[in-house]
Amino acid sequence: MGLRAVLSVALLAVQCLASPAPKPEQANTPAPRAGTLKFTGVNIPGFDFGCDTSGNCNEGAAYPPLTQYYGADGAGQMTHFVNDDKYNTFRLPVAWQYLVGYEVSNPLNTTNLAVYDALVQACLGTGAYCIVDIHNYARWNGAIIGQGGPTNAQFAATWSQLAAHYKNESKIIFGVMNEPHDIPNITLWAGSVQAAVTAIRNAGATEQIILLPGSDYASAQQFISDGSAAALSTVVNPDGSFTNLIFDVHKYLDSDNSGTHSECVTNNIEDAWEPLAQWLRTNNRQAFNTETGGGYDDSGCLTYMCEQIAYQAQNSDVFLGYVGWAAGNFYVGYVLSELPTDEGNGVWTDVPLVQKCMAPIAGAQQGSTGQ
Ligand SMILES: *[C@@H]1O[C@H](CO)[C@@H](O)[C@H](O)[C@H]1NC(C)=O
Ligand SMILES: *[C@@H]1O[C@H](CO)[C@@H](O)[C@H](O)[C@H]1NC(C)=O
Ligand SMILES: *[C@@H]1O[C@H](CO)[C@@H](O)[C@H](O)[C@H]1NC(C)=O
Repeated sequence: MGLRAVLSVALLAVQCLASPAPKPEQANTPAPRAGTLKFTGVNIPGFDFGCDTSGNCNEGAAYPPLTQYYGADGAGQMTHFVNDDKYNTFRLPVAWQYLVGYEVSNPLNTTNLAVYDALVQACLGTGAYCIVDIHNYARWNGAIIGQGGPTNAQFAATWSQLAAHYKNESKIIFGVMNEPHDIPNITLWAGSVQAAVTAIRNAGATEQIILLPGSDYASAQQFISDGSAAALSTVVNPDGSFTNLIFDVHKYLDSDNSGTHSECVTNNIEDAWEPLAQWLRTNNRQAFNTETGGGYDDSGCLTYMCEQIAYQAQNSDVFLGYVGWAAGNFYVGYVLSELPTDEGNGVWTDVPLVQKCMAPIAGAQQGSTGQ
């Protein structure tokens, strides 16, 4: 998560001027907006709780965001997001350890898989796309997959079993790994990703999207410069094609791209999205922004997030969409909360950032006013 240069106010002013207000005869032409993107969604965390960036995941800390397991009403949240906001995608982070019962050489733990699957089925039940995200930072208890830690075969075995379980579900998306970082050898990491892709396809999940993450916490900004783009470009399906192999990129809007500050300081366009869009177009590939977010009621976030989403929508040939961080089991008041508040009587209220920028329906409203 290297520090980036902060865009100057002057530069941002220029970018704002670059999208002129619609002339009267254009007023009925909606501006590009979230609804133009194929996938718009929210992360529903909980099964990843207890994991740190070293891939240590404390046993007993996974916290299902489901009321039947004493968690938040993740199922109700997703239903609200689909019905009221017109989202169509949820990302469902889970600790690798949880899936295999905290022993890396284990097969999938049927008890734990059934609990996680309750969230997946609740997601599928809304009609949305559901991203199965192993939230381990390319690691298991501090050691890197294929580079001193678990073998590629062990990693592939988990994915083979998950893919066999979900192979008939066209709306499952396989998120191979959350936020690899400090990867000593990116070529070797691409080999680990290849092992997962091959395992998923050979298990019978031949059509679904698979998300390929680079290093630097899957940074959209560093994807090219850190070698992730070149290395991951070699990952192929068993038939040699790149069909539905999509790059997984993250980007926050705070001062150090950490997603820990409430203030947003950038729309990421100049430093991240624009160069990435050019690279993707040149190389005939696509990316999906599966984590982004900002302070839920920060005036900077309300500006910059809307700008980021509008830019992604303008470039929907190469950007498939975004997934906000986060709802699920986070607490009301969490700095990046996208938690809707359940008012009872089936009424949910969204935080301002979701209401005004992130919800696809908010984009429709922007479009209708030409913003
Ligand atoms: C699943 O893992 C848990 C630990 O999380 C363990 O107690 C349980 O025995 C395992 N169950 C199966 C069916 O492997
Ligand atoms: C997938 O569909 C096939 C064909 O209908 C069926 O035989 C198989 O049991 C299904 N597998 C799963 C995991 O649901
Ligand atoms: C990465 O690993 C590959 C394959 O073992 C090796 O050829 C290459 O030299 C390594 N690169 C670095 C930078 O260590």
